[in-house]
Amino acid sequence: MLPLRLQPSDRRLGETLQQLGRDLRTVFDGWRGRPAAPFTLRDARAGGRPAPAPGPDLGAREVEVVERIQECADAVTLVLADPRGGAFEYAPGAFFTLLLEEGGEELRRAYSASSIAGRVDRLALTIKRVDGGRVSTYLNDQVKVGDRLRLLGPSGAFTITPEAAAARRLVLIGGGSGITPLMAMIRTLLEVEAATELALIYGSRAPSAIIFGEALAELAARHAGRLHLRLVVDDAEGEAAWPGGIGRLDREGLGRELAALPWPKEQVDGFYVCGPEPMIEAARALLRDLEVPEERRHEERFTAPQRRAQAPTRARAAAPVKIRRRGQAEAATVIVGPGATLLEGARAAGQALPFSCAMGGCGACKVKVIAGEVAMDEPNCLSAEERAAGYALTCCGAPVGPCEIEVA
Ligand SMILES: Cc1cc2nc3c(=O)[nH]c(=O)nc-3n(C[C@H](O)[C@H](O)[C@H](O)COP(=O)(O)OP(=O)(O)OC[C@H]3O[C@@H](n4cnc5c(N)ncnc54)[C@H](O)[C@@H]3O)c2cc1C
Ligand code: FES
Repeated sequence: MLPLRLQPSDRRLGETLQQLGRDLRTVFDGWRGRPAAPFTLRDARAGGRPAPAPGPDLGAREVEVVERIQECADAVTLVLADPRGGAFEYAPGAFFTLLLEEGGEELRRAYSASSIAGRVDRLALTIKRVDGGRVSTYLNDQVKVGDRLRLLGPSGAFTITPEAAAARRLVLIGGGSGITPLMAMIRTLLEVEAATELALIYGSRAPSAIIFGEALAELAARHAGRLHLRLVVDDAEGEAAWPGGIGRLDREGLGRELAALPWPKEQVDGFYVCGPEPMIEAARALLRDLEVPEERRHEERFTAPQRRAQAPTRARAAAPVKIRRRGQAEAATVIVGPGATLLEGARAAGQALPFSCAMGGCGACKVKVIAGEVAMDEPNCLSAEERAAGYALTCCGAPVGPCEIEVA
């Protein structure tokens, strides 16, 4: 068995040597007092433009930033296109994973599409700055038109399948950056489903922090009667004529907003909730108390797993992993190197495993652990029942020692 991540290809060897040269240059520059930018994007292409890190080979797609839109002081929309002319295909509510590298550490972050969904040649991701956040501040402050990023996806189950003939009433509840997947739903459903009506309850810190404020107002005016907008702020910043609500979208605040909806809750076909954890908890409790059936409640949380570099349980040694595919007699054994996830180790050894987001957020990489132990970055999307039944996620799970997994 070849050591992991060494591919027997001359092209790869050439790239590795070139990369080594660049890495050495970075080190020498540092000694000369010219430290690298906070994000050292590897694999710089001709023309001197930065390009994203290849990292482990997850088959990520390279995309180019073709437009930047400053949505408000703390949020930017990056409009992306495929430089080779390929399309993006996704459902409203889906998210994509950006892969970046900082100081040799690969960072993966999920961002929901905020643009109209379907098969499109432009994809918009909207990123709210998180104080001290490594990726969100970089994307807000440094990424320019023309830069290239690496992308996985689409992923996620917080999605709606648009149907031209559908006539539904949906309530969308968002807070802060949680507006992004809801915006894709609004843009898409208003366009595709002529008889569908939407009500958005959107909480922000203040009027100046509202993301998509103008775009929402414009959509509400264009689709009069089909998009009911309710903007709620913690603090109206002295705006005497603030037309929306004031207060928190906690249980009480949400209760007030739901009571003021244009339709009784029995006529609502679905509630879609995305925002800060306390708001999601409040909405969940409230909708349960209002006896909204579970199949009509949908939520998306923006919590990402902590990378394994911070997880103390990780084995430092390489471990053999037997991969059994359901229905096949033969199993393959791969060696997963120290620090690598099951997914990275399997792919490096030429074993394809199912996956999508590569950051613990979608469940596409779920496998059953037959023997041994797999330690996972937390939190992730695996439910308590799935854990109890012995499932693990290969994208954020690493073998603690020799183990065996079964792929469905
Ligand atoms: C499925 C999914 C979809 C997402 N979609 C979007 C989106 O469309 N737009 C968007 O702006 N973000 C979105 N996020 C959040 C995003 O992936 C990052 O978590 C966020 O940008 C922070 O990353 P960072 O590297 O800047 O912060 P980090 O360096 O990872 O964290 C810095 C500090 O901020 C805290 N923190 C991390 N994430 C958040 C957060 N979301 N809110 C508050 N505090 C946080 C951390 O606990 C830490 O203390 C989504 C997350 C998930 C899981
Ligand atoms: S690929 Fe999405 S959770 Fe693993």
